[in-house]
Amino acid sequence: MIFSDGAVVFHSHDVVTASSFQNYQIDRTTMMSFYFFRRFSICLLASITMLGASFAVLAAEPLLELDVGGQTQHLSRKQMLKNPAVRDIEVPADVAYQRTMSYRALPFSALFPSVAQGASVQFTASDGFVANLPGTVFSGKAQPWLAIEEEESAWPSLKAGSGSAGPFYLVWLNSAKAEISPEQWPYQIEKIAVMMPLAARYPQIRLNDQATLSAQRGMQVYVENCATCHTINHGGDATIGPDLNQPFSPTEYFEERFLRQLIRDPAAVRNWQQRVMPGFSSSVLSDQKLDDLIAYLRQMAKQR
Ligand code: HEC
Repeated sequence: MIFSDGAVVFHSHDVVTASSFQNYQIDRTTMMSFYFFRRFSICLLASITMLGASFAVLAAEPLLELDVGGQTQHLSRKQMLKNPAVRDIEVPADVAYQRTMSYRALPFSALFPSVAQGASVQFTASDGFVANLPGTVFSGKAQPWLAIEEEESAWPSLKAGSGSAGPFYLVWLNSAKAEISPEQWPYQIEKIAVMMPLAARYPQIRLNDQATLSAQRGMQVYVENCATCHTINHGGDATIGPDLNQPFSPTEYFEERFLRQLIRDPAAVRNWQQRVMPGFSSSVLSDQKLDDLIAYLRQMAKQR
């Protein structure tokens, strides 16, 4: 039988099947095309195998994408670890691990020697978390470092059964002095880009002239702490949490005391296993900042 080697049948079930072929008179042309088809299948298999091999290489050697001024560059972990500025650092009260941690790390300034005060640095993580940090924090009292997870000394899992904070994680020394919020410690970083601030790129998150000073401060609180996961009027980079103004604002459908409680400790209002949103305790978000944030959300409810 012409199908004796079986190869065609096995590799091509989405295109032709043995039964559809059995109804035909097999002539020479068909046999030729069969032959080519089989060759093609084998080639296809070989290229899939090669693709697999290159994925294996990629998996072992993570890349970091850097975008500055419209130019994109990819740095491998190996390349970064060879940088003479790499050091061993100790980070007390590490945000991702909630304890003192030691890392091989590169000063952020070795990657980006200077960040304009008016610019913003965007960190995109593999889970869709996007932090936009104002340029000013990079020249403040706290020192940013890019911690690099080495292949031979992997970091612990963040939660049982999940990955580590690696391969790249932004950590801070002296963070308390500069009020770096926990949302400004992005981990599992895939891409770092210098760009315009969030409010410049998404005018729909900006306040109109009627906004109070408190609401204006609240917008900064929002950008720092909430825009990493949420959008307002569908403006923002994040994709993790729901939009906080459309179709309705939580200031409209939650009683204020419950909204405050939800921001402080979401599980205190409702809880389930897949819950993602972290709580913002008063050490991270002062009562004043929470008031400002709510003033911002209330004002935005009038601007949609
Ligand atoms: C790490 C991501 C993350 C951050 C940071 C975050 N949220 Fe959330 N938030 C979520 C997710 C995801 C949900 C949906 C519920 C869940 O899975 O926890 C949510 C739910 C909410 C809800 C309830 C919405 C509804 O209709 O059920 C409110 C209100 C809210 N967030 C406000 C905020 C505010 C205000 C901030 C900033 C202080 C913030 N969130 C920061 C991820 C986040």
